[in-house]
Amino acid sequence: MIIKLGFIGAGTAGTALAVQLSQRGYPVVAVASRTFASAQGLAGKVPECQACEMPQQVADAAELVFITTPDDAIASVVAKLRWSAGKTVVHCSGAASLDVLETARQAGAQVGGFHPLQTFASAQQAIQNLPGSAFGIEAEGELLDRLAKMAQAMEGDWVQLQGEDKVLYHAAAVFACNYWITLIRVASELWEHFGADSSKAIKALMPLLRGTLLNVESVGLPNCLTGPIARGDLGTIEKHMAALEKEAPEFLALYRELGLHTIPVALGKGRVDDAGAEAMKKKLTTGA
Ligand SMILES: NC(=O)c1ccc[n+]([C@@H]2O[C@H](COP(=O)([O-])OP(=O)(O)OC[C@H]3O[C@@H](n4cnc5c(N)ncnc54)[C@H](OP(=O)(O)O)[C@@H]3O)[C@@H](O)[C@H]2O)c1
Repeated sequence: MIIKLGFIGAGTAGTALAVQLSQRGYPVVAVASRTFASAQGLAGKVPECQACEMPQQVADAAELVFITTPDDAIASVVAKLRWSAGKTVVHCSGAASLDVLETARQAGAQVGGFHPLQTFASAQQAIQNLPGSAFGIEAEGELLDRLAKMAQAMEGDWVQLQGEDKVLYHAAAVFACNYWITLIRVASELWEHFGADSSKAIKALMPLLRGTLLNVESVGLPNCLTGPIARGDLGTIEKHMAALEKEAPEFLALYRELGLHTIPVALGKGRVDDAGAEAMKKKLTTGA
């Protein structure tokens, strides 16, 4: 049975989910946001969707309401609304558990979490990125089935999460997505030391980044690892550390730390033996 959906929070995640679910046959009937202009913006992208002035209108019109506000606003937005049995409330946060929907649950509503494991930097790009993404679902029984079907309708895989696992699950996403960006920034800043600006560096690094991702996808861990640690090239590691100490000492501790976490991958690949791993560990830890 396909049910009527509503959205409270008309930002990037809300827009992407509303547009993609609507295109896959889920009726998105109502949307509200902090500002009416944002609600109108989302409603303009989804056929038959009404922009509402008040979030309560969405809770009344839809059977399943997605709360797509910033994480910190979810609990207070939900607590201000009237819920009843027969309604379902779902948030899209990766880190929050179902506790933030407790007031709706106490009023008889079913509650769940539906987190797209994807990065949305703008509404347009979010609409494009969403299909094929994996989803972290916190729900049981009939609601789990319903949300899993939505993930599948968007060509995505899904994983069931327990509330206590969510924070670690989200920390993993921060490593894979946000901190990867931090590493790209570090790389591009190092390019500035030899006179190339950041945009030139990013352009040059893009094929390397794409190649790395393709290797992860096709060859997998640990065999996708290349570079001095994968080869046990102690001399190159030593030169990197000396250059960083001289030119960009602010990144030396990060280089050491990441190197230490890369050694087990190199050992797994098998091109480095225990003695080689120990030597690299000593070099990265003590510099000797
Ligand atoms: N961005 C991502 O990459 C991503 C990925 C996965 C999951 N998520 C999750 O998706 C949810 C939304 O994130 P987002 O990135 O889409 O945030 P966002 O782009 O900042 O959008 C949040 C929207 O919520 C609205 N809003 C803020 N406070 C509100 C309130 N008190 N009542 C009603 N609406 C309110 C804002 O309204 P106005 O525009 O009207 O001011 C804004 O449109 C979060 O739970 C986040 O964890 C995000």
